[in-house]
Amino acid sequence: MVRAIYPGTFDPITNGHLDIIERASLLFDEVHVIVAINSKKQTLFSIKEREDLVRQCTQEWKNVRVSSHEGLTVEAAEKNGARVIIRGLRAVSDFEYEFQMALMNKKLRREVETLHLMSSEKFTYITSSLIRDLVSLGADVSEFVPALVEQSLKSRLLGKSP
Ligand code: COA
Repeated sequence: MVRAIYPGTFDPITNGHLDIIERASLLFDEVHVIVAINSKKQTLFSIKEREDLVRQCTQEWKNVRVSSHEGLTVEAAEKNGARVIIRGLRAVSDFEYEFQMALMNKKLRREVETLHLMSSEKFTYITSSLIRDLVSLGADVSEFVPALVEQSLKSRLLGKSP
C-alpha cells in the first residue's frame, strides 16, 4: 500500500487543487489531503470550514481521505503512514519555494519523498487568494471552483445566501 499526503492551506479548495488530487488518486493506493493549521496565515475560512469543503469536493474519490494538521508536514506524513508528499507546480515562480520545501522536508525525514505534479494548463494561473479577490469584486468564478465553494465564498464575502 503506497499512501501519499497532499498538504495545503486550501482557503478555499479550487479546481486546480482538485486536478492534482484526482491525478494523485490514480497513482497511489490512498491520498490523504492534509488541511494545514497555520497560525501565520490569516484565513478566510476556519480550519473546520476548509476541511468540510475539501471533504465534500473530494467525496467521489473513494481512496481520498481528509484531515487537518498543525506542525511539520513530515510529521503529518508520519502520522498518516505516508512515504510521499504531493505538491502541485503551476509555474516557474512556484519552483524556488517548492524546491526549498522539498529539500528541507528531505533533510527532516530522509525516507519521505516529495513528488511534484505539473498543474494542468488551464489551472496554472489560479490561486485561492485570486479567487477570493474575484468573488469580492463580483466576478464569475464558476470555471475555477466547484459550485459549493463558489456559494461559500459569496456567502462569506458578499453576505449572499445560496
Ligand atoms: N491549484 C491552484 N492553486 C494552488 C495549487 C494548485 N494546484 N497549488 C497551490 N496553490 C495555491 C494555493 O491556493 C495558495 O494560494 P494563496 O496563497 O493565494 O492562498 C498558494 O498556492 C499556496 O499554496 P499552499 O499549497 O496552500 O501552500 P502553502 O505555501 O500555504 O504551504 C504547507 C502549505 C502546509 C505545505 C506548508 O506551509 C508547510 O509545509 N507547512 C508546515 C511547516 C513545515 O513543515 N515546514 C517545513 C517545510 S519547509
